[in-house]
Amino acid sequence: MTKEEMYPLGRDETESRRLNEQHKLLLDIVGGAIDKAVPLDNISTVADVATGTGIWLWDAQKQLNENAGQSERQFHGFDISAAQFPPAPAGITFSVHDIFQPFPAEHLNRYDLVHVRLLVTAFPESEFQKAVENLLTILKPGGYLQWSEVDFAHVEAGSDDHPKGTAGVQPWMKFVEVTKISKCAPDTLYTAYNNAGLLNVANRSYPIRGRADLVDRAQEWERQFFSTMIPVILLKIGDAADKDEADEKGSKIKLDLEEYFADGGVVDVRFGTVIGQKPN
Ligand SMILES: C[S@@+](CC[C@H](N)C(=O)[O-])C[C@H]1O[C@@H](n2cnc3c(N)ncnc32)[C@H](O)[C@@H]1O
Repeated sequence: MTKEEMYPLGRDETESRRLNEQHKLLLDIVGGAIDKAVPLDNISTVADVATGTGIWLWDAQKQLNENAGQSERQFHGFDISAAQFPPAPAGITFSVHDIFQPFPAEHLNRYDLVHVRLLVTAFPESEFQKAVENLLTILKPGGYLQWSEVDFAHVEAGSDDHPKGTAGVQPWMKFVEVTKISKCAPDTLYTAYNNAGLLNVANRSYPIRGRADLVDRAQEWERQFFSTMIPVILLKIGDAADKDEADEKGSKIKLDLEEYFADGGVVDVRFGTVIGQKPN
């Protein structure tokens, strides 16, 4: 199976909208597009790998313009598919590229900041190291690698306090096992960064459960996340023979989740940002 075929999510307009909504929530969860370890004054070239709709690049550009002055900066988005690329605005360019393939010569040692976000479902845990090493080739010496991922390690334990809390969780955990994707991608990344010789590596964890200011938006994100993923998961783990059965079983799981949400529940999915610097 190619990397393109392995990616389990769609790329239609609904999915683009979901990614853009998710992006806004994520910025509120982690407190901005660019991690606090990155000295904004020194950033003039920025890459976003697996960029999707490219939405992170806009906010990175805005954050830099507002905090480090409006200067000539270059922003480039890479993705294995061009299906969700927006019309390219001034200063932002896009190209098709698989994170595992050698980057074209013009991108090597070019970027002060390389960002990646939400690739955990696209490949098994064992491939993170290779991806990190390939990304290092496009970073300038001294440049920063900022990669944010979903952490599912607390999901199971955090959901059994409610009779309907485990509805979407059990198939999800089975999916993680069957596909061998990382259960705690931030920790996997932390190890990969250190193995690759990155410096000043930090792993920041951001829970959404317990954020009283975000309950409604967190539930809406989880509603969309599980709605998008559950039919895919049921087919993948063999709990549904075909799409019709997956949709039918998925609807039941969604109803259970709604009961959980109505009682104020938020599944304990966390986000993690791992940041590190390429040695000079
Ligand atoms: C869940 S989306 C996240 C998009 C974006 N990073 C964000 O946070 O909004 C994952 C993206 O990774 C891309 N992708 C999947 N496998 C890839 C690979 N091997 N190399 C590059 N991009 C990949 C998909 O096409 C999709 O656009």
